[in-house]
Amino acid sequence: MELPLEYFIKLRNLIYERTGISYEENKIYYIKKRLYQRMDAGGFERVEDYIRHLKIFDPKGREFQQLMNLLTVNETYFFREFSQLQVFAESCLQEVINNKVEENNRTIKIFCAGCSTGEEPYTLGIILREMIDYYSSWEVLIKAIDIDENVISAARRGVYDQRSVKDVPPAYMHKYFTSPSKDEYVINQDIKDMVVFEHLNLMERRALRYEENYDFVFCRNVLIYFDDVSRKQVVDKFYSILRTGGYIFLGHAESLSRISSSFKIRRLSNHIVYQR
Ligand SMILES: C[S@@+](CC[C@H](N)C(=O)[O-])C[C@H]1O[C@@H](n2cnc3c(N)ncnc32)[C@H](O)[C@@H]1O
Repeated sequence: MELPLEYFIKLRNLIYERTGISYEENKIYYIKKRLYQRMDAGGFERVEDYIRHLKIFDPKGREFQQLMNLLTVNETYFFREFSQLQVFAESCLQEVINNKVEENNRTIKIFCAGCSTGEEPYTLGIILREMIDYYSSWEVLIKAIDIDENVISAARRGVYDQRSVKDVPPAYMHKYFTSPSKDEYVINQDIKDMVVFEHLNLMERRALRYEENYDFVFCRNVLIYFDDVSRKQVVDKFYSILRTGGYIFLGHAESLSRISSSFKIRRLSNHIVYQR
């Protein structure tokens, strides 16, 4: 079945308004495949009826959410972009820990936006456990959010396959995972307990309204799917939830240069990090 351009554009605009995710025309086949999957599931024969349903007869956004669960790209794995994580652990986190010890404020808060199936926030949990001396005297929170409900459920389960854990250093594999059967790796409960997962759309008007005082925001490989206007909206929100001196980490192909001049740019071992 063909997807007429007119309907592709209507659907694409709706998705953009609600999520910030921006699809070029070359994504028509990607969208079409998933759209028809949802139309089949709901018994819709005509695209225009499905789009009308999304706009008018889906006030709680349930069907829209099902469509988004199919459309999001959730690629992730533990210790992704290892050298950037080294910069985080050895420079930025160390600096924050030292300052906090001096201020006698033993709290660390990290916001992990677009956390997918949980590999990224659990990686940060492992790093914190390794880097913080006298861990039990600290209060640590990693808040991890994603627009896709299915990935949030998987993240809460915390069970992974070989592909996800391929970059975990062997010593950490031993220390932080159990493997009840072949190709099944379960993250330990004490790392799980560090992370609070929430289903959240970053573009929702009220998203992040009550968040504050974060030391770090990780938003890696998420903004690549947005256009500059929605990137700016999200980055402004990140700015407001970071405390002064807090850092934002983006994916290696992402930059704030066209988006925001509010952050200080720091170059650390070939990586750029942004500091409030
Ligand atoms: C490619 S994954 C990146 C996962 C992880 N950050 C990493 O770098 O390995 C992108 C994630 O961003 C999520 N995402 C996309 N748009 C979002 C939005 N508006 N609000 C929250 N999450 C979003 C997707 O569902 C997906 O799980």
